[in-house]
Amino acid sequence: MPSMHRISPSLSTLASCFVLFTFFDAISGLTQEAQALLKWKQTLPTQSILDSWLSNSSASQSPCSWHGITCDSSSSVIELNLNNTGLQGTLQHLNFSAFPNLLLINLKFNKLTHTIPESIGFLSKLQFLDLNNNDLNGTIPLSLANLTQLYELDLSHNHLTGILDPLLFPIGGTNHPKTGLIGMQNLLIRDNLLGGTIPKEIANMRNLTILALDGNNFYGSIPPSLGNCTHLRKLTLANNHLSGIIPPGIGKLINLTDIRLHNNTLHGHVPQEFGNHSPLVVLHLYMNNFTGHLPPNVCKGGKLVNFSAACNSFTGPIPVSLRNCTSLFRVIIDHNRLTGYADRDFGVYPNLTYIDFSYNRVQGDLSSNWGRCKNLQSLKMAGNSIGGTIPDEIFQLKQLQRLDLSSNRISGRIPLQIGSSSSLYHLDLSNNSLFGIIPTSIGKLTNLWSLDLSMNNLSGQIPYQIGDCNKLVSLNLSHNDFSGRIPYQIGNLAKLFYFLDLSYNSLSGEIPVDLSKLNSLVCLNMSHNNLSGSVPNFLSGMMSLSSINLSYNKDLCGRIQGLRPCNNVSDEKSHDGRSNKKKVVIAIAIAGALVGTIFLSLVLVGIFVVLYKRNSRSNSEQYSSAKRENPFSIWHFDGKIVYEEIIEATENFKEKYCIGEGAFGKVYRVVMAGGEVFAIKKLRCEAEELDIESIKSFKSEIQALTKTRHRNIVKMYGFCSQGRMHTFLIYEYMERGSLGDMLRNEKEAMELDWAKRVEIVKGVAQALCYMHHDCNPPIIHRDISSNNVLLSRNLEAHVSDFGTARFLKHDSSTWTSFAGTYGYAAPELAYTMEVTEKCDVFSFGVLAFEVVMGKHPSDLISHIQTFGVESLKLKEIVDPRLAPPSESHILTKLELISDVAMSCLQTNPKSRPTMLTIAQKLDD
Ligand SMILES: *[C@@H]1O[C@H](CO)[C@@H](O)[C@H](O)[C@H]1NC(C)=O
Ligand SMILES: *[C@@H]1O[C@H](CO)[C@@H](O)[C@H](O)[C@H]1NC(C)=O
Ligand SMILES: *[C@@H]1O[C@H](CO)[C@@H](O)[C@H](O)[C@H]1NC(C)=O
Ligand SMILES: *[C@@H]1O[C@H](CO)[C@@H](O)[C@H](O)[C@H]1NC(C)=O
Ligand SMILES: *[C@@H]1O[C@H](CO)[C@@H](O)[C@H](O)[C@H]1NC(C)=O
Ligand SMILES: *[C@@H]1O[C@H](CO)[C@@H](O)[C@H](O)[C@H]1NC(C)=O
Ligand SMILES: *[C@@H]1O[C@H](CO)[C@@H](O)[C@H](O)[C@H]1NC(C)=O
Repeated sequence: MPSMHRISPSLSTLASCFVLFTFFDAISGLTQEAQALLKWKQTLPTQSILDSWLSNSSASQSPCSWHGITCDSSSSVIELNLNNTGLQGTLQHLNFSAFPNLLLINLKFNKLTHTIPESIGFLSKLQFLDLNNNDLNGTIPLSLANLTQLYELDLSHNHLTGILDPLLFPIGGTNHPKTGLIGMQNLLIRDNLLGGTIPKEIANMRNLTILALDGNNFYGSIPPSLGNCTHLRKLTLANNHLSGIIPPGIGKLINLTDIRLHNNTLHGHVPQEFGNHSPLVVLHLYMNNFTGHLPPNVCKGGKLVNFSAACNSFTGPIPVSLRNCTSLFRVIIDHNRLTGYADRDFGVYPNLTYIDFSYNRVQGDLSSNWGRCKNLQSLKMAGNSIGGTIPDEIFQLKQLQRLDLSSNRISGRIPLQIGSSSSLYHLDLSNNSLFGIIPTSIGKLTNLWSLDLSMNNLSGQIPYQIGDCNKLVSLNLSHNDFSGRIPYQIGNLAKLFYFLDLSYNSLSGEIPVDLSKLNSLVCLNMSHNNLSGSVPNFLSGMMSLSSINLSYNKDLCGRIQGLRPCNNVSDEKSHDGRSNKKKVVIAIAIAGALVGTIFLSLVLVGIFVVLYKRNSRSNSEQYSSAKRENPFSIWHFDGKIVYEEIIEATENFKEKYCIGEGAFGKVYRVVMAGGEVFAIKKLRCEAEELDIESIKSFKSEIQALTKTRHRNIVKMYGFCSQGRMHTFLIYEYMERGSLGDMLRNEKEAMELDWAKRVEIVKGVAQALCYMHHDCNPPIIHRDISSNNVLLSRNLEAHVSDFGTARFLKHDSSTWTSFAGTYGYAAPELAYTMEVTEKCDVFSFGVLAFEVVMGKHPSDLISHIQTFGVESLKLKEIVDPRLAPPSESHILTKLELISDVAMSCLQTNPKSRPTMLTIAQKLDD
């Protein structure tokens, strides 16, 4: 992309060349069109693609032989076609009025920046305009409405916005009620952070057959005037921020065959006429808020190839026309409330490669027709009420890669043919009523990557051939009735990574030593079996393991805290105070705390409870019923126990254990029975602040948080909830408290010398970089401030409270997802509800300045927001309490930090660097 620096010198060149051209015209007779093109070229960066655009060859009186130019018989330019040539620059200086006969502009897939000039309206004969996949920004010019001959308009995949409605966004700053930020509306309009609507005037182009505006920044509703573009064949408005309904007029367009509206926030009913007038080929509706029925005639014309409606709230039947729609290639209608029958509503589709109707209300039986869709690669129908048995034919599909039948009512046995599906890499049959054994041919599935047969009634031995599926990264056979020994061949599954879950079966014998070969495994769960004997010492060598659960087994022993030592030395451990109750040992995976013993932590929460009591069945039932009452708790079996331990250790949250108070509520220091120290954040739940529903929906996020491990992130061990009044988060304890407190304290601030401050900023950058770029999906902090950066004993920075800002509703009215602390929150948060990584980047910039300056940089920020980003004199801002930095390498680092921090404070989130860039810069 040419920067302003590159453009300005060429503009000055232009000025001096101008005289030359006028002179030159007189002698060479360059046409007006050639002159306009050469002038444009002068403003563009030098690029070989335009080498043929020259004025000195005798043949170039007209530009007709130049690359990308086509002329008519009278040597007038009719086409400008430089598609996909890497063309750089802007259209600002192309004098459109010089091309009275231009019919076609095709500049797609280039690197054009800045806006589409208003003067494009002069091209009154233009029929074809394709600028898709550039970096154009600004609004779409209203003068486009002048181009009445246009039949194809493609502006997709740029950064264009529509017209701002001045009533919605009045010019003139007011203080934002929540943030107190002044006059931000002006800034936002100037920077075009907010998009506007698609101008209704676009429908003046009555001849349009293709209108493509997808992948831009359009807000507001689809203009009903489009109903006047009767020739429209293709309408693609996907990946914008459009809201409102689909105007009914769109349903009346008689030639529409390709409609793509996915990934907006459209709602209401979809015109039921779709497909009636003309055969649809593509209909994409996914990721909106549509309700009502799907159009029944989507495939009336028999041409439908791609159809998606996933992630809406559609009800009613699966469209009848789908049954005989042999043209289908991909069908994605999962996550709605569609009703229908898996056998009757679908037919045989020779071209179908992908179908997903998971999480709907489909009944009926699993049909053998699926086995006749010979090109199927993905077949997903999880989360319905489908019954019947698995037809053998499904496993004869040679292309099948993904099969997900989980959470249905499928019964019967797993077909012996399972081994024929040689391409299969994801197989999920969990949560059905399958019984019988796992066929030994499963070992032939050598491409299998993830296998989940959990929650069925499968029995018999686990076939040792499973050890041949050597690409498996996760294996879940839990909640069945498998018996016999664990085949040692499981140890051959060297790629196992996410989990190996054999819990809730009737497996017996010892844990095979071969499992020590699983040196990438993160979670191992063998609880609730009849395993006995010694727990192999290898477990301590498997450094990847972050969680092992061996609870509820028959008689395991070993040198592990909580287990009886082997050799039957004694049972004395169970004779202490609580011996008549179950014996509870909580071992916490804090590195160092368990030196010499095993790194243990519980699945999901890092807390491991070993209960050994022979007749533990009743206990387990008790806990599972507790679990049912308490769906928010993410610990699976021990929530109640940990909860009780914490209540006991804090004497029901007595004030003397409280070490601080924040937006979330109070923080307590808790010493557990085993001596481990935690910080417990007890969420404030009065006044409905704590939104239990949202906690439920963030369950997976909490699980992700408990799994993250980074030296600059405060480890979160888990989350406990028992009703509204007692909800808390369990964290690693940080001795030196918050960075904010230290900086505010004159004496402690001195302890943070320049070198330590540089390290602190680097540490925070590393933590954010990890959460944004190494976690999938990325985790956004939302509330970076000096109070959320905690310091360990050796003053190493640890970011705390990742993602937890989501759990709280700060205000039940408008600003539900507004997160952040005043003074750190990115300005766009006040206007868009969209929390992105770039919000963290902004807060990081504030924090970095705070560390350098020793105080919150509020004056600096308001200066930047008024006058823009400029360079700073480091000397004038450094914390005056410390002696000025003298060593040159520290000085350089501080300068770098201040430059980086400055770039983070840009008003336009897109202009801020990513945490990856920042972390790399600071690490150099
Ligand atoms: C794009 O440019 C190539 C030459 O680079 C040309 O062959 C092709 O036809 C052009 N495509 C369109 C749609 O104009
Ligand atoms: C458009 O992008 C250019 C750089 O590509 C930038 O300088 C300019 O500020 C942007 N304009 C708007 C209105 O966003
Ligand atoms: C629209 O086109 C006419 C010629 O057809 C021209 O005179 C006029 O200036 C154009 N308007 C704009 C806004 O470009
Ligand atoms: C549309 O196209 C037809 C023929 O292709 C042409 O005669 C007419 O002028 C065009 N413009 C409008 C506005 O209909
Ligand atoms: C269609 O165009 C006519 C005039 O040509 C106008 O009166 C009508 O409002 C337009 N329809 C829509 C939906 O804009
Ligand atoms: C619809 O398409 C057909 C076939 O391409 C064409 O003949 C007809 O004119 C079109 N109708 C409209 C209103 O564009
Ligand atoms: C949805 O659209 C936004 C732009 O509005 C884009 O950034 C995002 O990647 C899209 N999501 C999907 C799943 O396509």
